Amino acid sequence: MNDVTQRSPLADPAWHYLDKIALEDLSHDDWVMLEGQRSAYLARHQAAQALRLLSAGEHDPCFGYQVNNYRHCLQSATMVLRDGLPEEDVVVALLHDVGFIACPLLHGDFAATLLGAYVSERNHWMLRHHATFQNLHSPHMPGVNQHERERWSGHPHFDWTAEFVARYDQAAADPSYRCEPLQTFVPMVERIFSRKPQDRRSINQDKP
Ligand SMILES: [Fe+2]
Ligand SMILES: [Fe+2]
Repeated sequence: MNDVTQRSPLADPAWHYLDKIALEDLSHDDWVMLEGQRSAYLARHQAAQALRLLSAGEHDPCFGYQVNNYRHCLQSATMVLRDGLPEEDVVVALLHDVGFIACPLLHGDFAATLLGAYVSERNHWMLRHHATFQNLHSPHMPGVNQHERERWSGHPHFDWTAEFVARYDQAAADPSYRCEPLQTFVPMVERIFSRKPQDRRSINQDKP
């Protein structure tokens, strides 16, 4: 601990702080110290921060659907949970639209990037492509090719993505549905983010 704890209201005496600012000034020992603290910090804050991204919209109004994005995500996760699917699928359902408002056009990529290091390739692929699969259920949406998903026909994760969208996404906007509270899912999200991360940074976004 150094006097940074006096200079910043967000400093926490539980952590050691650098007394330098620019990365180019950090020594090898500085980096060792930072990396040594990083995993403990993520264990404490990563899942909670991902959940806060979702709950940021809890009280926001909706623009035409009967539930807002937060309630849609809760319903999706609750339906997956009640169907007895694996915990990873529940967490993926909970966060599949976490970027729907802040990053609408690429919200599938947003969720895939958020969770990609911690989930199966099956769910990583589903998150990236679920919005395109929704086209099938939106036949009257202007400018949409309802069958665009067919370009991935035969892909090993096609059927799961189609099933997720059909059963747990396109109709998960029912204001009368009794969702589990977010608290139900918190330990599940914590367990998924506590997995050893896989490095998927090299995945080409244009690959099928
Ligand atoms: Fe979506
Ligand atoms: Fe959705």
